[in-house]
Amino acid sequence: MAIRNVGVIGCGLMGSGIVQVSAQAGFPTTVVEANQALLDKGLGAIRKNLEALVAKAKLDEAGKQAILGRIRGALSFDAFKDCDLVVEAITENQPLKNETFARLDAVCPPHALLASNTSSCNITAMAAATRRPGQVLGLHFFNPVPLMKLVEVVQSILTDEKSVLAAYEWVQAVGKVPVRTKDSTAFIVNRLLVPYLLDAIRVYEGGLATLEDIDQAMKLGCGYPMGPFTLLDLVGLDTTMFVAEVMFDEFREPRYAPPPLLKRMVMAGQLGRKSGKGFYDYSGK
Ligand code: CAA
Ligand code: NAD
Repeated sequence: MAIRNVGVIGCGLMGSGIVQVSAQAGFPTTVVEANQALLDKGLGAIRKNLEALVAKAKLDEAGKQAILGRIRGALSFDAFKDCDLVVEAITENQPLKNETFARLDAVCPPHALLASNTSSCNITAMAAATRRPGQVLGLHFFNPVPLMKLVEVVQSILTDEKSVLAAYEWVQAVGKVPVRTKDSTAFIVNRLLVPYLLDAIRVYEGGLATLEDIDQAMKLGCGYPMGPFTLLDLVGLDTTMFVAEVMFDEFREPRYAPPPLLKRMVMAGQLGRKSGKGFYDYSGK
């Protein structure tokens, strides 16, 4: 199945990046947000990223305009009626995602693939909410989407092999490297990464060292590109907490439970870079 028209739901941190790479690769891409202000914010972030590429002479003005011309913003799922693939990138919440897949199923053409960018939710439950479970799968991009090469292609027990292959080819067409994984909570990367991030918070809560020294230690001691707290602020503390809750709920392992400090920071609205404050302060940047 050839994928030509692409849809994305949610134009937040991840959705805006997925829209950008899809349009950069030549796919007409429609994005739906919850309201006009959020849509404007997400489209503004894409424009800013493209302008940074123009400033570095990695893209010319005509190229920027062509990419922006392939992006269409909308507020209703009806805008997906001609899409061959829709990628969902809304909040990490299983009931909300299931309900969204049922709504998508009602408006998308019968041949369309429906994918979720979920970090940890259950693809099988989203598939079961539709009348096309064989065409539902996970396409898990990484943050920041324009820079990170990996996409996990997640196959549930209901996903057809031909849907996986079509999605796999699209991932390559947008310049990413796909790896295949089964629909098991948190897939490959988050299964390994999230316990490390949660441990970093516990170590800090226990008073072992400062944030800055823990970050420096993991960067210089292990060669990681970012320390755990810089990465937590990039991912979003709300998203990390939701993922930890899903993992704890699935496996009942204490190490997956969100640490008290993480929960309190989310309650306080300290979500990381996106809110201007997380473990570090971004208000001046
Ligand atoms: N968007 C677009 N471009 C960006 C960017 C962003 N958010 N951040 C940086 N860049 C650009 C910079 O402008 C710079 O461009 P030039 O080379 O053209 O000048 C380039 O990227 C490199 O930037 P920096 O030198 O500032 O930073 P860096 O070399 O440290 O690279 C990084 C940045 C790739 C993000 C790197 O720090 C990194 O790999 N960090 C770890 C990210 C990571 O682990 N992501 C996964 C998170 S987990 C996840 O996504 C899954 C989940 O479900 C939660
Ligand atoms: P975000 O909060 O930045 O963006 C989510 C967006 O979805 C918001 O702008 C919200 O308004 C919108 N939205 C919610 N319900 C909607 C609806 N019914 N219709 C249209 N738009 C709606 O979150 P994010 O970090 O972009 O995460 C999105 C998804 O991607 C989550 O499932 C998350 O687990 C996953 N993910 C996140 C990261 C990360 O590092 N943050 C990495 C990989 C995957």
